[in-house]
Formats: sequence, structure tokens, C-alpha cells
Amino acid sequence: METVVSGIRSTGHLHLGNYFGAIRNFIQMQHEHQCYFFIADLHALTTHPKPEDFRQSVRKVLVEYLAAGLDPEACTLYIQSDLPQIPELYLLLNMYAYVGELERCTSFKEKIRKHPDNINAGLLTYPVLMAADIIIHKATKVPVGKDQEQHLEMARNFVNRFNHLYQTEYFPEPHAYNFGKELVKVPGLDGSGKMGKSEGEGNAIFLVDEPEVIRKKVMRAVTDTGPGNPGQEMSEPVANLFNLLSLVSTKDTVDYFKEQHDKAIIRYGDLKKQLAEDIIMFTAPIREKVREISANDDYLEQVIALGGLKARESAARTLKEVRAIIGFTN
Ligand code: TYM
Repeated sequence: METVVSGIRSTGHLHLGNYFGAIRNFIQMQHEHQCYFFIADLHALTTHPKPEDFRQSVRKVLVEYLAAGLDPEACTLYIQSDLPQIPELYLLLNMYAYVGELERCTSFKEKIRKHPDNINAGLLTYPVLMAADIIIHKATKVPVGKDQEQHLEMARNFVNRFNHLYQTEYFPEPHAYNFGKELVKVPGLDGSGKMGKSEGEGNAIFLVDEPEVIRKKVMRAVTDTGPGNPGQEMSEPVANLFNLLSLVSTKDTVDYFKEQHDKAIIRYGDLKKQLAEDIIMFTAPIREKVREISANDDYLEQVIALGGLKARESAARTLKEVRAIIGFTN
């Protein structure tokens, strides 16, 4: 049994990218390993949300986590800011993280480009906070999507530096995980890149989107001007639709449309209709559970109180040992 940690930022509803990149793994791993799954509300602060939106976002992620299949009896489910040990370990880890490597981090460079008006130090040290989240439970496996790969590499650097400096093997190396296979990147509907909350209208399909909304978004998805000649290679936006189809549809369906594409007789309208209906079918039970769970405040409070308790216990143990290794006197 290994120790597993992962989190999702509380910046709004969960989308198919979160599901297939991360949550699908959470659901499977929770019964096989010691799992800690959390709502990353500290990380969400980099964008300065209003307190009421902030609270609502945390609640949304909690409800959607549970609706998607996280079992609070099987895993430890908590809110990041409920563990005071995380900011403390984050502060300590900052001493082993170099500004140069943080500045070179791809996600930081991207944030600078997109939001030149808000380049705060929290963004720069974002990977340090993430490493603290992971090693506070001494995790070895971290189920995440492809976009988090570099952050995991940085976490390993901090861990190795710490271990080396104190001549210890205290922290194990954490590794990104996806069923033991390649990490996943779920594309958005706008023709390129990945599905993401901040990528603009119509890019992401949220787990709570109503069928009509899903149909509208999928029908508006970018394709190309036509399949061209038989056997012609797929354009990127069309390949993206096939990628999504392969996540929610049966193999027969995917094969059918692939053949239509190969013969250059595919009608993108038909492909999109099928994709929309299969996404609706896939997300319907989650939507149903969201309605059920979100009405139950007592249950939600119970889950989070118990998860916080269990997670703090594990975190306190680690921090006590780390303080001793570093040489604090008490
Ligand atoms: P976040 O909130 O951006 O995304 C949560 C998880 O969903 C995955 N994901 C995707 N996977 C595949 N395709 C996509 N289009 C896609 N979009 C999102 C992400 O890879 C991630 O696994 N920094 C993290 C949250 C975090 C964390 C941690 C994760 C904080 N501390 C410690 C693991 C361990 C983040 O912003 O994820």
C-alpha cells in the first residue's frame, strides 16, 4: 500500500479535464492505497477571489468530489487550509527552492504572460506549496494530469535537496501517476490546447452542465473545413474531438467515426451529436448526485470535519519529525 496525495484548486466547477486527468484515478486508488484528497483553497488565492465566491467554490468542489465518487470512508478528504501544518512546511521548503528554478517553471511563465498585472510571490512559489501538500503525508504517488508533471519534478528536487542537506532519507520521492500509464491531457473544445476553467467560454464542459448546455458547447466546438481526401491525417481540432469521444463513448462508436473519417465521408455534425449525447450520458449520474448531496449541509460538514481531523494527525506527525531533523529545539 502506498501513500497517495492529490488536490484540485477551488476555482469553480469541475470539468471533464479534472475528471479524466485526476478524479478517475482518485476513485480507483482510494480503495487500494492510503489516500489523501483535498480542495486546494490556498492555491486558489493567487487570483484574489471575493470571500463569498471563494466559500462557494470550496463547497462546489466538495460536493462534486463526492458526487463523482470519492468515498470519505475510504479516503481522507479535506480542505487544504484546514491543515496549519501545510503553510509551515511551505515556509520551511522555501529555503530549499531556488528563485531561478521557480522563475523557469512553465506554469509561472504562462501566468506572467496571461496576467502581467498580478505577478505575486504566491504564483512564483506555487510549486513549493504544492510540494508541501504532497510531502506533508510523505506521499509517493500523485494522480494528476499532464499539466502538473513539471510541478512533480520540482517537488522531487526539493525533497532530494532536503534529504541530501540533512543526510536523511526522510522524504520519499513523489511521482505523478495515471493508472501507471502516460499522464492525460484532455483537450478543450476550442480547437487547441487543454480543457481548463480559465480558457474562455465554451472551452470546458463542466460535470454539472445541463444537457442543453453540453449540446450547445459541443455543437459549437471547432473542427476544420472538411475531412479532405480518404486517408488524410486528422487536423488537430478534429483529433481533439476524437480524443474526447474515446473518453466517453464505446470503442465501436469511436471505430465507426474513425472509419468515416478515413473514408472522408464523415459529417462533423453527426460526430458532435454523438459526442454530446455520450457526454450527457456519462455526466448524468454525477449531476443527479450533485443535486442530492448539495442539499445536505450536515453531511458535508461532517465529511470535512472528519477528513480535517485525520489529515491533521498525519500532517502533525510529519512536521514534528521535520522540525527535529532541521534542529528546532522543541
Ligand atoms: P487544477 O485545479 O488546475 O487541476 C486539478 C487536476 O485536474 C487536472 N487537469 C487536467 N488533466 C487533464 N486534462 C486537462 N485538460 C486538465 N485540466 C486539469 C490537473 O492536472 C490536476 O491533476 N496545482 C494543482 C492543484 C494542487 C495539487 C497539489 C495537485 C495543489 N496541490 C498537490 C496534486 C498534488 C492544480 O492547480 O490543479
